[in-house]
Amino acid sequence: MKNILLSGKGISKSFTQNGKETKILQGIDLELYEGDFTVIMGSSGAGKSTLLYALSGMDSITGGSVTFRGREIGSLSGKEAARLRAKEFGFVFQQTYLVSNLTLFENVAVAGFAAKAGSTKEIREKAERLLREMHAENAADRLPSQVSGGEAQRAAVARAMIKDPVLLFADEPTGALNQANSEEVMDLFTGMNHSGQSILMVTHDVRAAMRGNRILYLEDGRILDDLDLPPYGTEDRKARETRLLNRLSALRW
Ligand SMILES: Nc1ncnc2c1ncn2[C@@H]1O[C@H](COP(=O)(O)OP(=O)(O)OP(=O)(O)O)[C@@H](O)[C@H]1O
Ligand SMILES: [Mg+2]
Repeated sequence: MKNILLSGKGISKSFTQNGKETKILQGIDLELYEGDFTVIMGSSGAGKSTLLYALSGMDSITGGSVTFRGREIGSLSGKEAARLRAKEFGFVFQQTYLVSNLTLFENVAVAGFAAKAGSTKEIREKAERLLREMHAENAADRLPSQVSGGEAQRAAVARAMIKDPVLLFADEPTGALNQANSEEVMDLFTGMNHSGQSILMVTHDVRAAMRGNRILYLEDGRILDDLDLPPYGTEDRKARETRLLNRLSALRW
């Protein structure tokens, strides 16, 4: 039996614009499990990012609740919620949001200091090790403007990982990368997941999505499909891609 890591009940989110209410998330019930690489797919505007922000406490919800390891995120004070996001959650986005006047190494290390992830020496060593593991060590001493998109995103993954997050959230982490760089970043995700890292990732890309072992499909703010896959690497890649594509086309993706 897998342990529940995060649980959402009746999650709803609406926006009111010009006096008109639009429901973006329509009462979502969802449990995420420890060690899973869960993927959220769905057409543009389906509410994928909104759901990711709701589950991570980055954004408030208008109804329902989100519970992470027994703590209801909505009932935490602003300070407690910020602490949870800073120490227990990691984030990777389509854009890297690296600090432009710091080297990749400094970007990673600063995140470690902010999360109080160890002594100065430990954080420096950990930043070096992570950049090595992410195959970004050759670019470690350069500024974000002096590295490739793939190197920058790999450093952003290292920055998210330096605090050993319980759960890594990623919103279109390969969205700005070419196919080769996407595969490299997804190889990192697969490796981290196989070492036990829990991941929740939003993506449009089937080849990125098939790295997950569970695929949720969102439409109009509701979960329309929930597919379990065997761990990535245990079946033929082409067969897995075809299986996922068939499932998605049945959903008229
Ligand atoms: N702050 C906001 N105010 C009003 N509407 C919003 C706001 N944020 C998101 N929306 C709307 O909510 C809907 C869902 O947005 P969301 O960003 O979650 O979609 P998505 O599934 O991530 O799409 P994409 O694949 O394009 O990133 C969209 O119609 C969007 O315009
Ligand atoms: Mg989005």
